[in-house]
Amino acid sequence: MPITTCVFDAYGTLFDVAAAARQAAAEPQFPHLRDNWAQLAEHWRLKQLQYTWLRAITGAHCDFWQVTQEGLDWALEACDLNADPDLRQRLLDLYWELQAYPEVPAMLRNLKEAGFNTAILSNGSPHMLDGAVQSAAIGDLLDDVLSVESVGVFKPDARVYDLVEQRFQCSREQVLFVSSNGWDAAGASGHGFTTAWVNRAGDPMDRLPWVPQHILTNLSSIPEIAQQQQ
Ligand code: LAC
Repeated sequence: MPITTCVFDAYGTLFDVAAAARQAAAEPQFPHLRDNWAQLAEHWRLKQLQYTWLRAITGAHCDFWQVTQEGLDWALEACDLNADPDLRQRLLDLYWELQAYPEVPAMLRNLKEAGFNTAILSNGSPHMLDGAVQSAAIGDLLDDVLSVESVGVFKPDARVYDLVEQRFQCSREQVLFVSSNGWDAAGASGHGFTTAWVNRAGDPMDRLPWVPQHILTNLSSIPEIAQQQQ
């Protein structure tokens, strides 16, 4: 069945989640971050995601902003950086204005020009996603921004992926789902979407029962992949 709808994960896929720690490390007031910003960013991201999975399987949902702060608090303590409240606040402020990866605007424009529906499907709360979309200036290239908050559970719960079919009145086979998170691409494959895993870091493939159909190093070829199945 032809692809009609291209749906993107947000954090790590369209928006560079390491940008907050990288940028803070370049600011003169945080010299103690210069050597370990990458480790802080990695701990922060991993804890944030682990907390979403644990909250999803235990039914203890809260919004993504809360797990983002709780993940950061763990990461700051692990890196011995928790004595600096200004650093914590700066990192949280920067999370609202993450940079999009450079190829994102042209890639979305190509999809729109070729007639595809485009959307974000993210764990992010509507308010956080609004901030990121506005700061990247990509709002006019997206038909919708779908947040897990409308079903009150994080990915990879099937109710989240169901939001796409409900919103665009399409079948699963008509959706190309794109994520930089191997587990998210795998979950979406299991759901029945065609999937592309954007593996910028060259990570090993997750050992899960489902595999993505496409493995990419950046987002530039998404319009081509969607058109091949149009
Ligand atoms: C999201 C996280 C998983 O945007 O990156 O849903």
